[in-house]
Amino acid sequence: MSTYFTQQLLKWNNSANHREMPWKGESDPYKIWLSEVILQQTRVDQGWAYYEKFIKAYPTVQDLAKAKDEKVFKLWEGLGYYNRCRNLLHTARQISNLSKGVFPNTYDGLLALKGIGPYTAAAIASFAFNLPYAVVDGNVFRVLSRFYGVSTPTDTKEGITTFNLIAEQNLPKDQAGLYNQAIMDFGATVCKPSNPDCVACNLSSKCVAFNVNKVNQLPVKLKRISKKKRYFDFFCFKFKDSWMLQQRGEGDVWNGLFQFYMMEQDRMPEFSDHYIASVLTHQFAVPLNQWKYIGAGKPVLYKQLLTHQTIEARFICIQLSKVPKMLQNALWVKPKQLSKYAFPKIINDFLVTFHHGSALE
Ligand code: ADE
Repeated sequence: MSTYFTQQLLKWNNSANHREMPWKGESDPYKIWLSEVILQQTRVDQGWAYYEKFIKAYPTVQDLAKAKDEKVFKLWEGLGYYNRCRNLLHTARQISNLSKGVFPNTYDGLLALKGIGPYTAAAIASFAFNLPYAVVDGNVFRVLSRFYGVSTPTDTKEGITTFNLIAEQNLPKDQAGLYNQAIMDFGATVCKPSNPDCVACNLSSKCVAFNVNKVNQLPVKLKRISKKKRYFDFFCFKFKDSWMLQQRGEGDVWNGLFQFYMMEQDRMPEFSDHYIASVLTHQFAVPLNQWKYIGAGKPVLYKQLLTHQTIEARFICIQLSKVPKMLQNALWVKPKQLSKYAFPKIINDFLVTFHHGSALE
């Protein structure tokens, strides 16, 4: 019996997953292995060309095993981290010598190979042999942490154990390969790191993060705390004269403090009506005629220095003419009541200047 999550994921995969990649559906363990090693180094759009170059030059693991080191390094050029390339060659030669190019067909056999960790072993075991092993990579952390509302940091022992367990519980044992590819594709095209397509998502009604407006706060990473620069866009939603607030969760800065709806970005996106429209339509299904940007020109950039990180933030104020469905149970606060809530300094700084312009009235 499969879980609701799995049923919906496979349903999405069946009807709406249009992602095509040369290694998809592949059952040759050599080709799967190669694609996974390349994809550990680069994104799909770049990895694609490397994969095709490698397969053309070395169609089988025996061909790769026979190749001169320099030739393989040359093909690898641009991917960086040459140890991975060395391991690739080492393992190809090992497989070629020990078993005439036949890959191990068990999870443990795969895991024993140099450069193959639990993720790659699960990928090869499930894609090539349909063995019941769930992959757990960045996509999987993101999708599962949001759907189940798990804020345990993904880069801790506890987090890894937790997410492996959830992944395992969702794995349909007879369709492991299909499920693993589906969750990766879903994470890459719907449940994306920033600006996920929650409106189009057929899992959103039961997605914890979506229902409590924390899509942009999950997954949590401990390491993030040592990241130097972070970029936050606060969307200050106003309906009539009330402002929407949310409370921050654990595992990051400002635990328990209040904020406007926040999206963290890898870099600050160019500010435009188009950007706002894209967030409002994809995350809240708010049509163009139901919102208005309040403000003259681009929002000001605010900064806050913390011990291990610098936060840059913009406050994008939006007047809504209708409360979107997913914000109906949110906390809506009148201007006079705002001072009752504890905010991070950067938000207080914003409120002070904003207040002077009396836009909060
Ligand atoms: N990233 C790593 N492996 C992948 C795969 N098989 N498909 C898409 N993205 C990936």
